[in-house]
Parts: sequence; C-alpha cells; structure tokens
Amino acid sequence: MTTIKVGVIGLGSISDMHLEAYASNPKVRLEAICDLNLERAQAKADKYGVARIYANYNSLLENPDIDAVSICTWNNTHAEISIAAVRAGKHVLVEKPLCKTVEEAHRIQEAVRESGKKLQVGYVRRYDPNARIIHDFIQSGELGDIYYARASCIRRYGNPGGWFADAEKSGGGPLIDIGVHVIDLMWYLMGRPKAVTASANTYRKLGNRANLKYTSGYKASDYNDQINNVEDMANALIRFDNGASLYVDVSFTLHAKQDEMTIKLYGEKGGCELEPATVLVTEKHDVALNMMPQTETPSFHFIKAFQNEIDHFVDCIVDNAVPLSPVEDGVEMMKILCGIYESAALGKEVVL
Ligand SMILES: NC(=O)c1ccc[n+]([C@@H]2O[C@H](COP(=O)([O-])OP(=O)(O)OC[C@H]3O[C@@H](n4cnc5c(N)ncnc54)[C@H](O)[C@@H]3O)[C@@H](O)[C@H]2O)c1
Repeated sequence: MTTIKVGVIGLGSISDMHLEAYASNPKVRLEAICDLNLERAQAKADKYGVARIYANYNSLLENPDIDAVSICTWNNTHAEISIAAVRAGKHVLVEKPLCKTVEEAHRIQEAVRESGKKLQVGYVRRYDPNARIIHDFIQSGELGDIYYARASCIRRYGNPGGWFADAEKSGGGPLIDIGVHVIDLMWYLMGRPKAVTASANTYRKLGNRANLKYTSGYKASDYNDQINNVEDMANALIRFDNGASLYVDVSFTLHAKQDEMTIKLYGEKGGCELEPATVLVTEKHDVALNMMPQTETPSFHFIKAFQNEIDHFVDCIVDNAVPLSPVEDGVEMMKILCGIYESAALGKEVVL
C-alpha cells in the first residue's frame, strides 16, 4: 500500500485534529512537524511520535521525504506557506480561511495550477456526515432549487484573543474566522452559484469582553487580550446570479442571551436545517413534514468531519483526484468575505 508522508506546520489548538486524524489513517506516516515555538513542537512530537521537528517551514519543505503538508498557522501565513509548499512539490491541506485577500487567493491558485499539486481548503463542515446527507438530498433534486439560505453564528463572548483579534494576522474577526465555515457550507450546498453583490455591516462596540468573569471558550495558543482591532459582529446579505440570496450574522461578542448556531436552507420543494439539528422539511399528500435523518449526532460531528477531511485529502493524493474543497472555492469564498468587509467599510452594497 502507498504511504503518504505528511508534515504538519503550525502546532496550536487545531493541529491536534489534523495530527489525530493522520495518525488514524493507515495510508499515512507523520514524518515531520514545524512550529515557531519549539517547545510546543516538541510536546506534539512526543505525543504523536514524530521524528523530525522544524522551527522554519522552509526547512521542512526542503525535506524530500515529505509528500504533503497541513498548514495550521495564522491566516496571514497561509498564502506564503501554501505557495512555497506546492512549489516545493508538496500537496497542501490549508486551514480556513484560504488566506487574507483576493489577490493572495489568486496567487495561490496560480501556484497550484503551475505545480500540478493538490490543494484542499480546510472547509471541514463540508466533510461532516450530516452535511454529506443534506448535500446528497439537494443534489438528487429532493428540495428543488435552493433560493434562500441563512445562518447565525453568534458567540455572546468568545473572542479568542491573540492573533485572532489582530487584523494584521487574521484578516478580520468573526466573519473570516467562524463566518467562513457557515457561508461556505451554505454556498456549497446551494450549488456554488456566482456571488454578484454583497451588502453588509460590521460593528465594533463591545470590545473583547476579557473583563468577564466565569467564562471559557476557544483561545489562541498565545492568548493575549491586549490587541483587539477586529469587528465584534458582522451581518451580510449576498445575492447570486441565479436570483438566490444568503443572509448571515456572526459575532465574537454580542449582548445576546446565549450563543446561537443556526444553518438553514430553503428550496422550491423542501427545506433543511443543519444547525441546531439536522432536519429535512417538505410537503407530501397535502401534509407538511419534518424528517430527521437517523445519524450518530444531530448536528456537526467535529471529530468525524476532521477524519473525513483528512482521509479525503489522502485519497485525493493516492487516487490523483480533485479535492471536494478545491483552491477555486477558496478563491470564490475570499471574494465573498472581502466583498462583505468592503461593503461594510463603504456603507453600501458592492458588486463582487
Ligand atoms: N477548521 C476549524 O474548525 C478551525 C478551528 C480553529 C482554527 N482553525 C484555523 O487553523 C489555523 C490555526 O488556528 P489555531 O486555533 O490552531 O491557532 P493557534 O494560535 O492555537 O496556533 C497557531 C500556531 O501556528 C504557529 N505559527 C504561526 N506562524 C507560523 C509559521 N510561520 N511557521 C510555523 N508555525 C507558525 C504558532 O506558533 C502557533 O503555535 C488558523 O488558520 C485558524 O483559522 C480552523
């Protein structure tokens, strides 16, 4: 059996999901890891039994034994590392968002095209078992054309601090960090229509609310609450060339009673929800029906989705197949995200 030798670059919180999933894939050998923080790298090397540790990703990329890399670093490094990796002959799985700007996204796409290597964007929600079910129902025409989708991804206090809250490193706040997941999933399930306009608002009213006692939540590995120049919340309406529309609101902080996570899509023959629980909605014999797929978890299965994402990446390399979340979709999503920020900054609708 072919063995794909993998390196993981960036060894903070999310890297464990990649490392665990690679370690569970019999076609993979974890060959090397890399982080600016060598102590962190050593701890992960010990945990996953990885022999080679690097502090500089270029040195890892020079290792001819490595076939593929996962990039789990700050968003502002995704473009430079992705480009360097494919040029060094490595296949790439890059965490979301693909990068910070549309211009970077185009440069990555060009480097991928020139290299002939695979690049898969880490839109992990596409790989979730419930999302696969909904995708298959929509593809089979069960719900008809989807013409409206909406999602809320509201954290009442959940600014991860550190680089996440530093626009220079992250590219933005909750929109680019958590909004990207739900916008991408809805857009993918809608059949990837061409986005034509964005009308959006961003707000910076509450700060990071690091003053709050008795709270916990996702934090950057190098947590710091002193920097916060990203939006607290964003809302956006996207129009597509087929007449469909998508509405989203997301927050790191908001005076909401509780966190809220909803993902809903509406079609001509039926609708569906993926959050807070997976359900298909339709009408038959003059009766309105709600149908619940009988799956392991009612909504997003974090561990399974990551395992599926990594397994798919490995299979694409072995079988020379196109990833389910290719670089082209990363480029389109950067156009939407950047269009949202642009519309909010200008205070008017923008053409994408
Ligand atoms: N798919 C998901 O659900 C999900 C969840 C969380 C984070 N993420 C994404 O994963 C990435 C990492 O997030 P995180 O939460 O693990 O952050 P983190 O702060 O916990 O870890 C980031 C790590 O990257 C290292 N790093 C940064 N620049 C580097 C470089 N040039 N070379 C080597 N190492 C470098 C840092 O030292 C740090 O250890 C981000 O792009 C984030 O958007 C995805």
